[in-house]
Amino acid sequence: MNAEKPFFYDVTLRDGNQALKKPWNLKQKEIIFNKLIELGVQGIEVGFAGASDMDFAACEYLAKIAPQDVVISGLARAIEYDIKKVYEAVKYAKKPRVHTFIALSEFNMKYVLQKEPEEVQKTAVNAVKFARSLFGKDADVQFSAEHFGDCESNIDFVIETFLAVIEAGANVINLPNTVERSRPGKFLNLVKKVAEKIQDKAIISVHCHNDLGMATATTVESYFLGARQLECSLNGLGERAGNTNIYEVAIALYNSGVEVPLNLKKIYETAVLVSEMAEIPIYEKMPLIGDDALAHRSGIHQDGAAKTKGMKKGAYRPIQPELIGREGEFIGFTSQSGKTAIYEIINNAGYPISMEEAQYLQPIMKKIAEERGELTESEMLDVYFKELIYIKGPYRLVKFEDIDVANEIEKYYIVIEYNGKIIEGIGEGKGPIEAIVYMIRRTLEQNIKLLHYKQIALNDNELGSKAKAMTIIQLTDLDKDLKIICRSLHDDTRKANLYAIINGLNLLEKLKDQKK
Ligand code: KIV
Ligand code: ZN
Repeated sequence: MNAEKPFFYDVTLRDGNQALKKPWNLKQKEIIFNKLIELGVQGIEVGFAGASDMDFAACEYLAKIAPQDVVISGLARAIEYDIKKVYEAVKYAKKPRVHTFIALSEFNMKYVLQKEPEEVQKTAVNAVKFARSLFGKDADVQFSAEHFGDCESNIDFVIETFLAVIEAGANVINLPNTVERSRPGKFLNLVKKVAEKIQDKAIISVHCHNDLGMATATTVESYFLGARQLECSLNGLGERAGNTNIYEVAIALYNSGVEVPLNLKKIYETAVLVSEMAEIPIYEKMPLIGDDALAHRSGIHQDGAAKTKGMKKGAYRPIQPELIGREGEFIGFTSQSGKTAIYEIINNAGYPISMEEAQYLQPIMKKIAEERGELTESEMLDVYFKELIYIKGPYRLVKFEDIDVANEIEKYYIVIEYNGKIIEGIGEGKGPIEAIVYMIRRTLEQNIKLLHYKQIALNDNELGSKAKAMTIIQLTDLDKDLKIICRSLHDDTRKANLYAIINGLNLLEKLKDQKK
């Protein structure tokens, strides 16, 4: 394993910026620059100073405000004009760097540069020599072989050129996959060859584009082959399908046990800001930062995620969302979801629900979701209220009057409607709930028993902001071997108790019907 820490060299302000439909102005670049500093990158390519006056001014300004420990670099073609421009702009930084490049692939030298390899090599060496003479011995001179990914056929020439530019003063050799055309393994073989030849004569860097969606994989694996500098961009901004996404690389390395010198908690807020400023929305399935990237909808996944909540390695999740400054995982309820989703969503909305109740609601909600797709929290609460709080069934309370409430065992006169028939009687117990249970046992010969009773105060936003009483009871039907939790919500504490037991009786009837 590569023992050295990775060096994150960010190219958002150069490669990312040059690909924007509306490149950033100085003020906008400064905002992104400050975010990069907060994120903690080690190097920033602030622009292409020779490209325009606007970019020159931005490079110069950012070099002036840069923290002392961050490498500030500008891009230059292998020509004196560009190199001078970079020097004029970044010389104010404590750690200035020039990044000069030329294509070394056979295809590009022949068809784009239209020059012989020897001439291209000479240009590269002269550019590096010039850069070193201007920047002095302490600054960094980075050389890139543009289209390095296409250099399989002339890799010996490319390595020879690298050794020559190192001799001329380059101390960083960058290997760009300027266009990602094939499998990562081919690029990695080339990186390996270069690393073996260069060893510690220069720092090896990789710069991958994401045309086929594998830039993260290629960059991460290059690190393990000896590339210490990883060129990445925020949100993967860059030409065409973009550059390597810095967040993905950072997390892949972190999850692989590498010490990652970034403030990972800043990732999510950075991504949101960059998306707004680039006017490029974050695709909802985008790894790590997409709205849906940490969501669970299948019942099996929801169950596993809930059982491993809070653990560093969780089931069905690459990271704890808090690691990158996200709030938490999203659990959605669809026709594919299970009781855990209902349990989590309803409880998170502030309404207590037991797993048994969630299980009872699951087929009901599933049916609705089959038609509507994912249910919103408020649609789920509608079902919760309808099915658990205002349960309709054969029982209805008609009258409930005190006879004797002065003693420990209270007495009530109770009238109940059951399947359209009026039943009246006297109920006795330590409160209204026990009294109704007593009365039902005697008059309807139902073998029911109250197991638990609890009343809590709840702020019911659905029905107004004042506190309400929620009564939660556990009831069993001993003949049918059924045990349920049921509840009721009311602003009158006594009524909350009365409706809870009626709800419970109705729920038992429903479950009895289901069992038949
Ligand atoms: O993709 C590329 O080849 C580049 C170079 C200038 C490094 O951006
Ligand atoms: Zn690039």
